[in-house]
Amino acid sequence: MTETAASVTSSLETPLARAAAVPVPQADELAGRFPLTGPARIASDAERAQALTDLHFGHVFSDHMAHARWTRQEGWGGHEVRPYGEISLSPAAAVLHYGQEVFEGIKAYRHADGSIWTFRPRYNAARMNVSARRLALPEMPEEDFIASLVDLVRADADWVPEGDGESLYLRPFMFASEAFLGVHAAGVVDYYLIASPSGAYFTHGLQPISIWVSQNYHRAGRGGTGFAKTGGNYASSLLPQQEADAQGCDQVCFLDDVTEKNLEELGGMNIMVVDADGTVRTPHLTGTILEGNTRSAIIRLLTDAGRRVVEDTITLEGLLADIESGKVSEVFACGTAAVVVPLGHLKGEGFDVRIEGQEVTHQIHDRLTGIQYGRLEDPYNWMYRLA
Ligand code: COI
Repeated sequence: MTETAASVTSSLETPLARAAAVPVPQADELAGRFPLTGPARIASDAERAQALTDLHFGHVFSDHMAHARWTRQEGWGGHEVRPYGEISLSPAAAVLHYGQEVFEGIKAYRHADGSIWTFRPRYNAARMNVSARRLALPEMPEEDFIASLVDLVRADADWVPEGDGESLYLRPFMFASEAFLGVHAAGVVDYYLIASPSGAYFTHGLQPISIWVSQNYHRAGRGGTGFAKTGGNYASSLLPQQEADAQGCDQVCFLDDVTEKNLEELGGMNIMVVDADGTVRTPHLTGTILEGNTRSAIIRLLTDAGRRVVEDTITLEGLLADIESGKVSEVFACGTAAVVVPLGHLKGEGFDVRIEGQEVTHQIHDRLTGIQYGRLEDPYNWMYRLA
């Protein structure tokens, strides 16, 4: 079997979870691999203060971006942090035609003492390489990936917001920039890291969200790219997301493409079901599901808190019956951008049900964000100091 994020069955022991546990050199040791070229500040204090007011998700960008280029002949080079701005690309760049692209999502959190931290960065570094392998893109040394976070966040430290639930959302991405129209892997690839000071992903914060279960479309298929974080998976979620919008729902939920019965994931986050007996269930990593960093951390936190956590085949039919009978008490979504958010309403062709419970969802939200924002002890050494 080729290595995918789904090659192993226990979420505590996946290659990504193991990668996340490997110690990372201190940020001072990694700093400088992406040296600052160009001016150190772009926005004035007043412009930045204005930009940091009333933050939503992904609309505002910091002063700089990190960049490196890979060529088949030379490997990675040209590492730098430079002013944020438009990038120029040949109209024949392979990514524009064949979508050879991967990305990541990770956050920088400001703690009460002003220090800036991120969460399990090796997980994202390793996952970007899992995605890159599937998309025939080059791998980036994990410590270079983390160094790009260190150098960009140090250059743009003033852009890390300090409001409740706010963070600097970091978006690393890599794409085929070689100009040619043949369908084969590009020999020139660009890596960028941009940063967006952000508030809650859902504008109503921790309020329960509503879900439209798509019975017409799938996000990914067996042997495809579902386990990789690549734009195509998100592109295929956009039309069903429009259906969800038209139904008055916040997010779309996908079923598997083989049986068309089993819950997989939402448009951009994993899903977890809490049974009334305390068990927490989440879909198996079948190869069509993204192995979320938040998902992995929550499984660890719940397991260590003595809960039974299982990867399971969760059918839509079974879930609806279990909500109806009271066997299921809560359902929540989790992801880096969304954090942890309760599902309050599940809708699809021929059904429309409410879910009332939120107790475990709130507990896990508070524990996870407590660790991320430095309010609670971090017994796992998940937090990594950037600045
Ligand atoms: C993330 O959670 O970081 C993602 O990339 C998902 C997307 C909804 C923003």
